[in-house]
Amino acid sequence: MRITSGSDSDQLITFAADEVEELVRRQPNAVLGIATGSTPEPLYAELSRRSARGLDLSGLRITCLDEYVGLSADHPQSYRHYITEHVLDPWGIDPGNAVMPVGDAPDPDAAARDFESRILAWGGIDLQILGVGPNGHIAFNEPGSAFDSRTRVVSLTPSTLEANSRFFEDEADVPRRAITQGVGTILESRRAILLAFGEGKADAVRAMAEGEATEDVPASALQRHPNAAVLIDDKAASRLRTAPASV
Ligand code: GLP
Repeated sequence: MRITSGSDSDQLITFAADEVEELVRRQPNAVLGIATGSTPEPLYAELSRRSARGLDLSGLRITCLDEYVGLSADHPQSYRHYITEHVLDPWGIDPGNAVMPVGDAPDPDAAARDFESRILAWGGIDLQILGVGPNGHIAFNEPGSAFDSRTRVVSLTPSTLEANSRFFEDEADVPRRAITQGVGTILESRRAILLAFGEGKADAVRAMAEGEATEDVPASALQRHPNAAVLIDDKAASRLRTAPASV
């Protein structure tokens, strides 16, 4: 895991966008794994600007990390809706080239298995973008998730329900379950870039980077990823004992 920090999150976003650009120029139909959440939004916006200026992102194949169980694709808080708005539409990608769990499938376990097999059918993920939850979760792998876990239905912890309640009018509307790529699935991505900004992520970043690799902190599994980059701003880096490299 290579950690890079910077005082200006824009620089870190440029760094990540450059890597996506380099990938798409090398391999126009690469499989790019998208994370939801507010952290990566500026990255998708930067890539949308590059697309508007002529960078062709339309051949990319897109995979999603997770989806709420029970939300239909057109629900404004569904992750399919997020990906459509921030990635597929602005980058000109055919929705048929995006693989996501079906949140409102009658059998969520079958939907999870189907999602995982579609990722494998594409030959796996070339570059996976990741965020981290304040409790150290990646995708919706909550503390206690096995490092060899696969895509499955999970129950969300109170901490995650609280963190995600800001997106819903009523806390009671926050879905209690999700379909998520497993930690093992994420570890198979050929390259991973995790973004974390702000003080609220400082404890998770420290536990992920400087604690032992433990299922109590699912993001610490990235210590075992062969090619993972962690891009953090100074606030997210503020509790690290060892100063990371600067961008
Ligand atoms: C959700 C998503 C994660 C994301 C996390 C952090 O839990 N399932 O993939 O990393 O939110 O979101 P934010 O970037 O908004 O802090």
